[in-house]
Amino acid sequence: MMAPLKIGAHTLPHGLLLAPMAGVSDTSFRLLCRQYGAEYTVSEMVSAKALCFEQRSKATAPVRTAPLADILQKEAPMAIQLFGSEPDFMREAAMLLESGSYRGAKSECSPAAIDINMGCPVHKVVGNNEGSALMRDPERAAAIVRAVKDAVKLPVTAKIRAGWDENSKNAPEFAKRLEAAGADLITVHGRTRQQFYAPSSDNRVIAAVKRAVCIPVIGNGDLFCAADVRRMREETECDGVMIARGAMGNPFLFSEIIAMDEGKPYTPPTDKERIDTALFHAADMVKRKGERMGLAEARKHMLWYCKGLRGAAAAREALTHAESLDEIRTVLYALIGAN
Ligand SMILES: Cc1cc2nc3c(=O)[nH]c(=O)nc-3n(C[C@H](O)[C@H](O)[C@H](O)COP(=O)(O)O)c2cc1C
Repeated sequence: MMAPLKIGAHTLPHGLLLAPMAGVSDTSFRLLCRQYGAEYTVSEMVSAKALCFEQRSKATAPVRTAPLADILQKEAPMAIQLFGSEPDFMREAAMLLESGSYRGAKSECSPAAIDINMGCPVHKVVGNNEGSALMRDPERAAAIVRAVKDAVKLPVTAKIRAGWDENSKNAPEFAKRLEAAGADLITVHGRTRQQFYAPSSDNRVIAAVKRAVCIPVIGNGDLFCAADVRRMREETECDGVMIARGAMGNPFLFSEIIAMDEGKPYTPPTDKERIDTALFHAADMVKRKGERMGLAEARKHMLWYCKGLRGAAAAREALTHAESLDEIRTVLYALIGAN
């Protein structure tokens, strides 16, 4: 068991964070993970520039970016993650988020922090010098942190990778630079940008960052069970852990970790409990996003919940074509022989 992690005004007894995941960690998923023990969540990544431009557009123009930053009281503490490459836009966007008064804002509470994305590997993003491209431009990255830090009272955090590629694993120096620029916390995903999501994440990089800075360091990468978390804590001495893919179809992972920390036995959910959670998740997505969008986005989650169940491959096709919650329920219950 580790010492509690403090982020601004918030204390996280187990240091358990749900990672930002575009297209995955929306309100429904964040709420579910909070319910199973995640102590802190981060929004899907929000384009700083798009948020700023949305403010300049006509009052009748639709708002598409602002809803990504909405926070419900019951999912707090939650950070908003911004991506961008221009300090001025990053500053302006952070100020909007802190003030809570911008077009389309519907948050019930303020963000716990402003997180800056310095890890996204996607071509379109790095092509604009955003995301993990910032790891090749430490000066710009530090200027962004400084600009945001000077503009808001909220904690400013950054999520980085090991480096750009095998020949430029600069995470420790890079993190030091961000710390000097005012960063309050750093999350490290132990892969380079060129590695995207394979091979496995390297805990040694996280340990090296932890040794290099005095601010809290959160370890991220390949945490799929409680034993992975224990190993990461031991190998890196990180102050907290952030889970992404391990929670997909398995929000129960957070309770598994808490059981380990408290020395209690962990009973994994039965197949029926797993499927009922999946159905609750899908229904919540439909409630929040409407039937068309909610169902379209829920399908991938359903497939993740089914992983490992007998007959899951065959159910895949049926789930892809399911056009209502009832159809999803029929497919999933058939899979586990329930009704
Ligand atoms: C579908 C998906 C979307 C992601 N979106 C984001 C994002 O918006 N911002 C971010 O910083 N990282 C994003 N990531 C990276 C994760 O937060 C995390 O760093 C990475 O998946 C490694 O952790 P894991 O091994 O636990 O999955 C995303 C990852 C996935 C799989």
